[in-house]
Amino acid sequence: MTTFPKAFLFGGATADFQCEGGFDEGGRGLLTHDFVTAGAYGQPRQITLTLPDGTRGSAGVRDALPADSVPTLFADTYYPSHQATDFYHHWREDIDLLAELGSTTYRFSICWSRIFSTGMEKEANPAGLAFYDQVIDYLSAKHIQPIITICHDELPNALALKYGGWADRRTIAAYEHYALTLIRHFHDRVKYWLTFNEINILGGYAALGTHAQDPQTRYECVHHMFVASAAVIRQARLIDRELQFGTMYMMSEMYPADSDPKNVWAAYTTRREACYFFADVMARGQYPHYARDLFKRLGVTLDVTPADLATLRAGTIDFLAFSYYRSGTVTADEGLVNENPHLQTTPWHWPIDPLGLRYCLNELYDRYQKPLIVIENGLGMIDQRVDGQIHDQYRIDYLADHLRAIRDAITVDGVPCFGYTMWAPIDLVSLSTGEMKKRYGVVYVDMDDTGRGSLQRIKKDSFAWLAATYRSRGANL
Ligand code: BG6
Repeated sequence: MTTFPKAFLFGGATADFQCEGGFDEGGRGLLTHDFVTAGAYGQPRQITLTLPDGTRGSAGVRDALPADSVPTLFADTYYPSHQATDFYHHWREDIDLLAELGSTTYRFSICWSRIFSTGMEKEANPAGLAFYDQVIDYLSAKHIQPIITICHDELPNALALKYGGWADRRTIAAYEHYALTLIRHFHDRVKYWLTFNEINILGGYAALGTHAQDPQTRYECVHHMFVASAAVIRQARLIDRELQFGTMYMMSEMYPADSDPKNVWAAYTTRREACYFFADVMARGQYPHYARDLFKRLGVTLDVTPADLATLRAGTIDFLAFSYYRSGTVTADEGLVNENPHLQTTPWHWPIDPLGLRYCLNELYDRYQKPLIVIENGLGMIDQRVDGQIHDQYRIDYLADHLRAIRDAITVDGVPCFGYTMWAPIDLVSLSTGEMKKRYGVVYVDMDDTGRGSLQRIKKDSFAWLAATYRSRGANL
């Protein structure tokens, strides 16, 4: 029987605007995500706004916003982040459930506008810090180590309106002030920090705070985020040398669709530009050689100062965190697609591929020689309640297969992976669709796609199985 190493961290992962709610409580300011409606597969979520002529409009969450339009809340519209699954009022009960699972870690994000309501204040909001103090102290009492995401695809809305979000260098200073405030306040209780979530796939007003969404804008934003992350890491090391910093990347595998060399090359370059590029800069402290060709093809010109380059070199990450849900295939003609005749897919067309996770762990360690953590992995499904119970054997199968893949990467291949936080232990709102019915949890939350329900937490069959797995360090796999 091969089990996971003793120090391996097991737990769950969430993001504030998908579970926290309390959007107008405790001095929290509006967040860019507060303007995002619910959607569905094939029906993109929208940002509601007021057009320059005063009329009402909307734009797809990853699309450009009309020039001079202003994101606006409308009373007749449902915005999932406002209540979400109400962790704000259920945090104690939710942490009890994490503890019952045998979790030794919990990865969650802090809501930026709960700490600085506009992102531009000098002083942090005491009620915001107090909320997370309670959460972190309760986690510690339950022997659960927090892993904090400083920024999960979001900005205080005022910062987006005033500066145009990450396109403006002033956002770097605002982020530094926010992140270092958190680090000074929590460093004695929090060792692991993630500067950003899925930095390699961010797009749209909610994530970047920009109206425009062209490649020039995107890579300007990304450059500013690289500098902001490195600047924070550099300064945080002066505060506490014990702290460990990572950034989180979406690393779903990308295979060539077949052995045609054109497709193999397309898969290689797609993977490099969509995933490695970001980790290359942040783990190695400099832009990779292929950046020049990438920017030339996209028509991107960046203002990279000598001071930026020095900061990037000084603030490299200590470990890599990544999400892995699925794999995809690439052809030279079509680019990245979901289709793979060898794999089953979820109802949201995500191919299920546990071996791809072992491949990914090996590939990342080969490339960076840094410790790794699987910070998101899980199965989004429609769960049926039968006589108050949820029989989700499909989720047990998915999690077991992926945990076996990690165990093999560690014990057979020798990859130093130090933890696993499944997404998301307690059902929450889907990021891509805003739906509630795309459920990941081992705990069901009684809430529907319009936010109605008792919010009661109900354990699914997978709960007992995951608890047995975590408590035995995978002896049951
Ligand atoms: C990751 C995000 O992309 O995937 C999470 O970091 C997100 O915020 C998760 O929820 C699953 O995606 P979705 O769209 O099914 O919620």
